[in-house]
Amino acid sequence: MTPEITPSDATLGAVIGNVRLNALDDEAFAAIEEAWHAHAVLVFPGQNLSLEEQVDFSRRFGPLERSLSSNHVEDDPAIIHLSNVKKDGSLLPADHSVSMLLKGNNRWHTDSSYKRIPAKASLLSAKIVPEIGGETAFADMRAAYDALDAAMQEWLADKIAVHSYAYSQGKVGGTKAITPEEWDDLPPVEQPVIRTHPATGRRNLYIGRHASHMVGEDLDESRRLLEELCAEACRPPRIHIHKWQVGDLVIWDNRCVLHRGLGHPPDQPRHMVRTTVAGDSDDANEWVA
Ligand code: OGA
Ligand code: MN
Repeated sequence: MTPEITPSDATLGAVIGNVRLNALDDEAFAAIEEAWHAHAVLVFPGQNLSLEEQVDFSRRFGPLERSLSSNHVEDDPAIIHLSNVKKDGSLLPADHSVSMLLKGNNRWHTDSSYKRIPAKASLLSAKIVPEIGGETAFADMRAAYDALDAAMQEWLADKIAVHSYAYSQGKVGGTKAITPEEWDDLPPVEQPVIRTHPATGRRNLYIGRHASHMVGEDLDESRRLLEELCAEACRPPRIHIHKWQVGDLVIWDNRCVLHRGLGHPPDQPRHMVRTTVAGDSDDANEWVA
């Protein structure tokens, strides 16, 4: 089976057909990895993977992160349920602490940038999709970097941003589902604003909602600049929006892509399953599952 790759009209994203992710030989996996480096977001329609199969496929990209305890109930710590559906089928109220936590996902971000070693990849699959809304949008931070003028590229080259989960979740009122012990593990961390992708060598902007301000710059001004950079970066042709069908799986590269949920009416069920590939580092990553 040779994967069929259909690039989107945007600067990122491709749909991959003619593959079964639960039965991939090494050659097909290599083709997928190459396509992932080229397109940064890959959509695999209709895979309907079990939780175990999603974990197995995710592990081919590297060790997985464990999630915050509020996100998973009884499964493997590497599995995150993003869901407003309770065990009995009823829906969480919009003001529930988990609903408030999930609201944060609707702002542009890259997963785990508030951890010392941020995530490499995320894989998201759809179990229940709402009739209205619930799409996920992706923005290409390689193309966003390329679109900056040379003076801004140069000015940003050595800038460091402080990424903080307390800052980003505080903004959406989504701090209550995090335990005091978890907050102890989530101090603010510093990340370069411009990163070079280890596989492609392409430079990209590394920003998003967890980035609070820049080190050594005026707090309010650098916060405003980060917001402006994000607003400009996340515009066509650098945006790809995925409208989910049950069974779809999407993988994105957190090192060079921002993403956000577009939201859905709170009276409609949505259940997604995410696995997260831990970032590469010479240091031990305390978040590996
Ligand atoms: C995520 C995320 C957005 C969505 O899974 O990391 O931000 O549309 N998801 O559920
Ligand atoms: Mn996310």
